[in-house]
Amino acid sequence: MTDMSEIKGFAADWLALREPADHASRNAEVQAAFLAHMAALTGEAVIVDMGAGTGSTARALAPAIAKANPELRQNWVLVDADSQLIDRARLELSGLIDQGIGVAFEQANLADRSALNGYMARADVVTGSALIDLVSAEWLDWMAHAAAQHRTAVLFALNYSGTETWSPPHAADHGVLQAFLADQRRDKGFGRALGPDATDYLAQKLAGAFTVTRGTSDWHLGPADRPLIEALATGIADGIAAHPEPTADVRDGWLTSRKMAESVMIGHEDIFARPV
Ligand SMILES: C[S@@+](CC[C@H](N)C(=O)[O-])C[C@H]1O[C@@H](n2cnc3c(N)ncnc32)[C@H](O)[C@@H]1O
Repeated sequence: MTDMSEIKGFAADWLALREPADHASRNAEVQAAFLAHMAALTGEAVIVDMGAGTGSTARALAPAIAKANPELRQNWVLVDADSQLIDRARLELSGLIDQGIGVAFEQANLADRSALNGYMARADVVTGSALIDLVSAEWLDWMAHAAAQHRTAVLFALNYSGTETWSPPHAADHGVLQAFLADQRRDKGFGRALGPDATDYLAQKLAGAFTVTRGTSDWHLGPADRPLIEALATGIADGIAAHPEPTADVRDGWLTSRKMAESVMIGHEDIFARPV
């Protein structure tokens, strides 16, 4: 079992830098299917945001749900292992609370099956962003099983899908991507991570008991996104630093060049599943 202190940290600054790209990239068809589901709910809905970080998902979805269904009482439960990110989320979501949206913050290790099951039992909807590429097949088995048992709707957005196109191209792009994909499959605290296979795996698990809508939510970054491009390239180079290939010289040359790239496409996918 993973101790919370062993869980890989995500810097709040990185999450803040990526949030505008994440919000702009959410798939419109998946979002429409999700909002149609939310529009049909009555009374109140408990929405559990797994791996909530500083609250990006609630900032993206709560206003859209309020517009789709002004009568619905939204009760968000933001769950994360990192208490510092939760503290930041508490500050950054005070505006939603002022608008009458319920928001609770809980520190928990979602790799613990009993904790996961507890949240699945409470939720009308479970959601998350940039999370399921970190988890294992076994974790998605548990989550999908509980979602079917409780007839819980499921929305996971911004799942890394393993495709990257940098422009202009660099000779080391392919080698760097292969090393990064290997890093994506490391254990991130939930068992061996599925990385770019997570969305396909979850869709298969939910088929039959759910109507599944999925679609791409790729980042398309250009010159206006320079700080994010630089942080992204640095994060990739750091992530592959322990790999023997590409060599440190090649990796450093790649990083210098990629920080100045004109544009980059980073593949993501969103998935929404409504109980049939
Ligand atoms: C890539 S970040 C995404 C954060 C947020 N959803 C967003 O889109 O900005 C992944 C989040 O999952 C959290 N996390 C990682 N492992 C976890 C675990 N075992 N239990 C709970 N949260 C976890 C991290 O602390 C981090 O906030």
